[in-house]
Amino acid sequence: MKLKTVYVCEKCGHQENKWTGKCSACDAWNSFIEDVVDTSPRKHTQITRKNSQKLAHTNTLENRLKTGMEEFDRVLGGGIVEGNLILLSGEPGIGKSTLTMQICGKLAEKKNILYISGEESAPQVASRAKRLGITSENINLLSDTNIESIIAAIEDEKPQFVILDSIQVVSSADIPGLSGSVSQVRYCAEKLMEVAKVKQIPVILVGHVTKDGNIAGPRLLEHVVDTVLYIEGERYQNLRILRSIKNRFGSTNEIGVFEMAENGLKEVKNPSLIFLAGRKEDGIGTSLTSTIEGSRPFIIEVQALVDKTAFGYPKRTANGFDLQRTQQLLAVLQKYIRMDFLQQDVYVNVAGGFRLKDPACDLAMLMAIASSFNKKTLPKNMLILGEVGLSGELRPVSQLQKRLHEAEKLGLSSALIPQTDEKLQTKLKIIQARDIREALAKF
Ligand code: TYD
Ligand code: MG
Repeated sequence: MKLKTVYVCEKCGHQENKWTGKCSACDAWNSFIEDVVDTSPRKHTQITRKNSQKLAHTNTLENRLKTGMEEFDRVLGGGIVEGNLILLSGEPGIGKSTLTMQICGKLAEKKNILYISGEESAPQVASRAKRLGITSENINLLSDTNIESIIAAIEDEKPQFVILDSIQVVSSADIPGLSGSVSQVRYCAEKLMEVAKVKQIPVILVGHVTKDGNIAGPRLLEHVVDTVLYIEGERYQNLRILRSIKNRFGSTNEIGVFEMAENGLKEVKNPSLIFLAGRKEDGIGTSLTSTIEGSRPFIIEVQALVDKTAFGYPKRTANGFDLQRTQQLLAVLQKYIRMDFLQQDVYVNVAGGFRLKDPACDLAMLMAIASSFNKKTLPKNMLILGEVGLSGELRPVSQLQKRLHEAEKLGLSSALIPQTDEKLQTKLKIIQARDIREALAKF
């Protein structure tokens, strides 16, 4: 082997001989990490000729393997496609191994599964399976970290579904560098991609990322795999949200909601109830709003606390809500309602660990801030919707009907919304406002 040190952009995989601050391919800053490559001439690779097949007889994407875990299947676009290489990423301890083992348990009813664990010993994996109540005879367990022997095992055993936990611990003897390095991770993933495609076996790779997404592996892998799933959640809260960041076989808008319980991840079929759990019915500084994720509406509580600044600069803290947007809402309140926040600390929060990005939730947050500022409660069981513009005007929200319907289902009784001509079908008492002044004047 002739080894050479190179620098690889962990965002896009672009390679340079010298370290540079900015990637010339994707413009990312500070993204180069050191790697070692083998520059000796390539040996002749054997060509295996493939046969073509009749297009009319080719399986389409509707032919999906359902795991029976609805929240998981939905995020994938309705189930797993043949030969799908899926990367399941997330921070350590978030529940990746738990989720993959549960999927194994579900699929083992109809498929033979090979579970390859490089991270944990066989007894550790077996203990988790026991805790999750998985006893199927259709799951084979392999403890291995060498990619060639893993591929050989897949070819011998011909499983119908493969899980590798995790991609960071496998390596090849043919490639320089330690396991987890850029070239190892990419090479191993490409090898698995080959097997997945040629043998038409779906494969799930588990990959860790740190809080800042900084480990080389998963970022680079996103380009290699078909589907990237990401599990997130506050580590010390039970809620877990599964999203797809990339999906060659479906949309990336859907999310799956789970709760980590004593014996595994439980699907949350009616997430709004979770996001509302523990709610004081008519507290000061809280209001209810709705966001749409993928095709589903969620009802969520937003909270604000406005308090006199005791010392120094007034603080602004936002949890689950955009800080810039919070500041914009404060500026609008200050300018048009003459609320003075110059000596007030403002904290905003979204209950349940949800991250709100939908502009339709602006008005709810604004009303919560005003409620805390004025120490006045808002009507309980009222849904608040509306995007707030810079001159205090309220802009219409998308999919209003769907959101109102969800609120109705959860037993809310009224809704404050931007002025609309739309004929709404709802039993909720509808209150309309053109701008924030009108909205605030009603309460
Ligand atoms: P794990 O799946 O090992 O995380 P990862 O593979 O992403 O590193 O799960 C880690 C946490 O989940 C661990 O702190 C224990 C907890 N857990 C439960 O609460 N209930 C369960 O049934 C299981 C299996 C784990
Ligand atoms: Mg794990």
